[in-house]
Amino acid sequence: MSDHKRLSPLFSARALFALLVVSLVVLAGCQPSDPEAVPGGQQTDGSAEQRVVVYTSRQPHLIEPLFERYTQQTGVTVEFTSANEASLIERMAAEDDQTPADVFITVDAGNLWFASERGLLQPLESESLEAIVPASLRDTNNRWFGLSVRARTLMYHPDRVDPSELSTFEDLADPKWAGRLCLRTSKKVYNQSLVAMLIEHHGEERAEAIVAGWVSNLATDPFSSDTQLIEAVAAGQCDVAIANTYYLGRLLADDPNYPVALFWANQDTTGVHVNISGAGVTTHAPRPDQGQRLIEWLASENAQAEFAESNLEYPINPNVPASGIVAQWGPFVADEVPLVVVGERQAQAVRLMDRAGYR
Ligand SMILES: [Fe+2]
Repeated sequence: MSDHKRLSPLFSARALFALLVVSLVVLAGCQPSDPEAVPGGQQTDGSAEQRVVVYTSRQPHLIEPLFERYTQQTGVTVEFTSANEASLIERMAAEDDQTPADVFITVDAGNLWFASERGLLQPLESESLEAIVPASLRDTNNRWFGLSVRARTLMYHPDRVDPSELSTFEDLADPKWAGRLCLRTSKKVYNQSLVAMLIEHHGEERAEAIVAGWVSNLATDPFSSDTQLIEAVAAGQCDVAIANTYYLGRLLADDPNYPVALFWANQDTTGVHVNISGAGVTTHAPRPDQGQRLIEWLASENAQAEFAESNLEYPINPNVPASGIVAQWGPFVADEVPLVVVGERQAQAVRLMDRAGYR
């Protein structure tokens, strides 16, 4: 999916004009350039433009209402392209210094880390972001910042598991869970990040033994989505699973009696695994100041409740409380190892899962 949403009719006309000019330039055998630098276009350094361009892997319905509110409050138009993170990263790399994108918004620190490693994000100097976003939930070099927190934890069928049986991710490798565990595929970055953290905490050898233990306890082949995974628990296909809380939140929003319960993992040890959705300003942003202002606004109290609640996540801003279904799950202790680790150990985690037979 790659729908370029234009929220400004003015932009549509200008984009059409720019496209026409670019086409003529290409036909004439010249090197095409940024539409803004095209002869006859409005060439600016970007700083004065009242618009900002976002590439995002978030679903449009989660993010578009916020962008509309940003425009109402600031007069700055937000144009966004929505697609999966891998294709957006490749697109930014291919566009290089011709990219129209000022801001990249995606989920999972693993994806943000990968984009920054590709040289696609620039460091920001932002007092407000550094004050709001905990150090563990942003890049060491401030190239990306968390905007919401998602927790990956244990979920179980209350008729088949007594919560006193549950404790940690590591414990799911114990033979007592043989034939009772369901997992999502190891191909998903969420699990790669979780295993990267296991490696960080325990070293590679013990992490591999844990993952191998999970594999030997599987009730069935790994699922392709967290929702399928939770549905398998509800259906009694397995007793316990590891999933992101917002997937359970969506099911509970439809059916408050949905027969799956949440257990905060590792509360007496490392804290539960958390990850983020987050953003950074692109290295070649035509309007870097506009990009930074948008990210600062998304992290502010102004936007945080809506930003987090749209996906049933947790606000990154400590001044904004969780609410609704999310608040019902109560407080939890989060793993505070910096999320840059999930990026740095991602490749190691993928190889480890492969060796352990986790498909
Ligand atoms: Fe997700």
